[in-house]
Amino acid sequence: MSTSLDAFWMPFTPNRQFKAAPRLVVSAQGVSYRSADGREVLDGTSGLWCVGAGHRHPRIAEAMKRQIDTLDFASNFQVGHAGAFELAERLGAVAPPGLDRVFLTNSGSEACDTALKIALACARARGEGGRSLFVGRERGFHGVGFGGISVGGMTNNRRAFGAALLRSDHLRSTWDQATQAFVRGQPETGAEMAEELERIVALHDASNIAAVIVEPLAGSAGVLVPPRGYLQGLRHICDRHGLLLIFDEVITGFGRLGAMFGAQALGVVPDMIVFAKTVSNGAAPLGGVIVRREIHDAIMKGPPHLAELMHGYTCSGHPLACAAGLAMLEVIESESLCERAAALAPHFENALHALADAPGVVSVRNLGLAGGVELAPVPGAPGARGAAAQSAAFDHGVLTRAPGDTLVLAPPFVSTPQQIDRMVEALRAAIVATAALTESTP
Ligand SMILES: Cc1ncc(COP(=O)(O)O)c(C=O)c1O
Repeated sequence: MSTSLDAFWMPFTPNRQFKAAPRLVVSAQGVSYRSADGREVLDGTSGLWCVGAGHRHPRIAEAMKRQIDTLDFASNFQVGHAGAFELAERLGAVAPPGLDRVFLTNSGSEACDTALKIALACARARGEGGRSLFVGRERGFHGVGFGGISVGGMTNNRRAFGAALLRSDHLRSTWDQATQAFVRGQPETGAEMAEELERIVALHDASNIAAVIVEPLAGSAGVLVPPRGYLQGLRHICDRHGLLLIFDEVITGFGRLGAMFGAQALGVVPDMIVFAKTVSNGAAPLGGVIVRREIHDAIMKGPPHLAELMHGYTCSGHPLACAAGLAMLEVIESESLCERAAALAPHFENALHALADAPGVVSVRNLGLAGGVELAPVPGAPGARGAAAQSAAFDHGVLTRAPGDTLVLAPPFVSTPQQIDRMVEALRAAIVATAALTESTP
């Protein structure tokens, strides 16, 4: 590439290291990228948890082409276009019963902040304006807006930005190395961790709490799987105290856990579902919140000439994003993508857990088509081995992601068992290649 790499400030990337040894891709098809040096690189992360149907799906591409030739842009402030209404209706139809009102955004971060604002607006509309505190969870990721980092629990995402803006408290992470290190699927123990919410409610009083927000499965922290019964426990406690429960399904939505939403895969219905990523197969920026109808209806009041919720984005419900989303929903159904993800999950689990004997592996965990392999850190340099292993995996032909020292695999739902095996083999090669690093002295 003749262009300099200097001007583009890359997101969530060690810029100086990347630009010294760039990993560039030039095209993609199905489950693979083509790298700038002409190699096939398997997409072990579905882009960034986005491309469940595989890259350049023809139905999605055609729908977007048709759309740009018909209506390239219309805002949804005061005017409207059919695509946004159709997409919202379709999303309501595939969400758990009772959740059928949809606010559209361009990203997961915007969707998280939108859900938090809806919770606050709902409390006020119900005459409970004192409910302004949120409960998140340690190691939770809810995007990068100020609301999201307030309720989120990723220390590195908060450190540089001073005090969070929203009042919030945090449940502890569900991760327990002592009992969960090599558990397949959901841990059988640990449901009682949900009881901590009772302590937090007792401390702040329910009348001050607007909502609890968690990811059903913590993806960005390195795939932390909820113990069986834990989410049910949170639901019961929220019901007992009249708290809204928000599931951030930006990663788990649209098939990753073998059902349309994690809510359905794990059998717990929240009051709002935050989504993004796979909804458009990554082909266009799209996110949103699916809201329980009573919450929406509580806010639908005030003078009829005024917007009920003073919130929205210029591109909320962008025609191209809606076309991509509608086409993706069709593809999920017609190609049985949720069922395919569910069918592939046992093979994925076996392949991933075979890495337990690789050098320096301290944990392997999985649910659906999400998996994490945690490596012993380089003494005194947490994250260094993960970064080196990610780079080595790319050299071995697989794109993986390394939050800290965990290598994450999140293959497209259309992967074959053989492609899964190749992804895992590349991970093993990367783990072996970086094993010596853990022996260096601090
Ligand atoms: C659970 C969760 N919420 C929110 C986000 C933020 O989404 P976006 O990057 O589209 O803003 C992510 C991104 O990975 C996520 O995993």
